[in-house]
Amino acid sequence: MRAHFDYTGAAVFVAGGTSGINLGIARAFAEAGARVGVGSRNPAKVTAAVAQLSRPGREARGAVFDVRDAAAVAEGLAGFAGAAGPIDVLVSGAAGNFPAPAHQISPNGFKAVVDIDLLGTWNVMKAAHPHLRRPGAAVINISAPQAQVAMAMQAHVCAAKAGVDMVTRCLALEWGREGIRINSVIPGPIDGTEGMARLAPDDAARARVAASVPLGRLGVAGDVAALCLYLGSEAAAYVTGAVLAVDGGWSLALGGLALAPVAP
Ligand code: NAP
Ligand code: COA
Repeated sequence: MRAHFDYTGAAVFVAGGTSGINLGIARAFAEAGARVGVGSRNPAKVTAAVAQLSRPGREARGAVFDVRDAAAVAEGLAGFAGAAGPIDVLVSGAAGNFPAPAHQISPNGFKAVVDIDLLGTWNVMKAAHPHLRRPGAAVINISAPQAQVAMAMQAHVCAAKAGVDMVTRCLALEWGREGIRINSVIPGPIDGTEGMARLAPDDAARARVAASVPLGRLGVAGDVAALCLYLGSEAAAYVTGAVLAVDGGWSLALGGLALAPVAP
């Protein structure tokens, strides 16, 4: 089954859109007709993503920046808007994660994750703000289950992503008057991604996670992209400040399912 959304003529920028879930989101918008831009640190990843996302007559645009560098992000977003016009959909999904117990996370380790996930999201939103279409733009911040559920080895990510969701809510209040909607998306465990590889590094761990999802499978990037296509569209015209999970029900019963597996 496919969701059908028409983004012909729309300008969509995905920060951190050069791999994994975010690249899947960028691809879905490109397939729906949008002019797409992506930005991240690694020039080779940016070049490869631009090649994947370009369509005949609709060249994708890439920007190389670290989301921790506000000036570089501002330059990247201005360059995209200069070429593609006012931004209709902004997706902010750059993130960093490593599993580690708190006593092994240095101040700089904690700061690295908070600066990429939380300050980075802030920098992306602030840099895009002058270029967002008003009224009508949609901002989508990619959060994580860690924003809502405490997890061992993830104190830095939990803190950062909880902050992302609160920024979503606060700026939805402020920018709503300008006709800009802002929502957070919480992907569940998504197969074939760097995030999953870091948290569930082998087949046994992957199988345990899959078995703990009420819908009985890991997610795919397209599951997350479908929610983003909806949130960026007119169909979501009255949805703002929401934090929406696309996780097969995973976050409903984290822990509980592991203790009492649901019969198939
Ligand atoms: P990923 O492939 O590693 O994607 C991360 C992206 O962010 C890459 O394009 C990376 O490119 C970019 N990035 C990282 N640090 C950056 C920085 N400092 N400045 C600019 N760009 C930066 O990871 P993923 O697993 O698909 O995760 C994507 C998003 O989904 C993240 O927000 C993550 O928290 C969220 N999420 C993932 C899962 C999952 O199951 N994987 C579950 C819940 C939430 P460069 O290396 O070129 O910078
Ligand atoms: N355990 C404990 N500390 C760790 C660590 C680990 N596994 N990995 C990194 N750190 C610490 C480093 O030691 C350093 O702290 P220090 O200066 O006190 O030694 C700090 O984190 C920053 O590391 P550095 O490698 O300089 O940061 P970076 O900015 O180059 O990279 C990361 C940021 C660490 C988040 C890196 O993993 C990354 O770039 N991730 C992006 C991809 C990703 O995580 N994808 C999944 C998204 S869910």
